[in-house]
Amino acid sequence: MQAESAIPTASTLPRHLAVIMDGNGRWARRRGRPRMVGHRAGARAVNICIDGCLRQGIQVLTLFAFSSENWGRPADEVGALMRLFLSALEREVEELHRRGVRVRFIGERSRFQPAIRERMESAERLTGNNRRLQLNIAASYGGRQDIASAARRLAADALAGRIAPEAIDEEAIGRHVALAALPAPDLFIRTGGEQRISNFLLWQLAYTELWFTDTLWPDFDEATLADALTDYGRRQRRYGLTGEQVDATTREESA
Ligand code: IPE
Ligand code: IPE
Ligand code: MG
Repeated sequence: MQAESAIPTASTLPRHLAVIMDGNGRWARRRGRPRMVGHRAGARAVNICIDGCLRQGIQVLTLFAFSSENWGRPADEVGALMRLFLSALEREVEELHRRGVRVRFIGERSRFQPAIRERMESAERLTGNNRRLQLNIAASYGGRQDIASAARRLAADALAGRIAPEAIDEEAIGRHVALAALPAPDLFIRTGGEQRISNFLLWQLAYTELWFTDTLWPDFDEATLADALTDYGRRQRRYGLTGEQVDATTREESA
């Protein structure tokens, strides 16, 4: 309860939170354990994060679970991560459904084995009408690949005469990248101490507030989430305007 009082009000709560869950390997190494032990602990932290978002009333949560570049890790780590991914899907989806969570996956799904793809599809089907929290899991996802695929589809549309090349603007690209139907992330959290985007949502993060913590992902808890939300609540988002302009608009809106 003690974190509760520091939590910002609904108006300063991010609608969409995007998270790079980093630091599993180092968490395990510090304990003298194999990296996989860290990934398993990381899966538990995912549940804590989802719980926190449900409690706070955050509407959209996007988690970076596996990047396009992570396929290049040693085969035994990739294989073990795939097994963990499959067992998490088998174990967690019913409970997420019961709690009103809608689950979607973004990324290159074709690279996963059929058993995982089927589980992804059935999770999306089962939870498709839920409205309490939308959970997007970025798996085999890369921000550049996302933009390239939007460009490819627009080029095909132009060739087929469905769109004029002059009509390809930011709005058109925005309609073709992942998460197009959702508000852009308001807040980005990266655990694990690195201050970089690592090819996460490049297009969608243009005006997202960034928040970094040294906390390793398996240690992520509601207090860490509360710290990030409190910091977010204190920020002024200016979108290129002056602070005075933003203040004036805020005053008009609250009048
Ligand atoms: C993040 O933790 C999980 C994945 C990328 C799958 P890491 O495995 O990158 O952990 P560190 O960065 O090596 O500690
Ligand atoms: C980013 O973490 C990807 C995920 C958390 C899924 P990485 O550990 O792959 O990023 P780098 O290699 O440190 O940039
Ligand atoms: Mg890492």
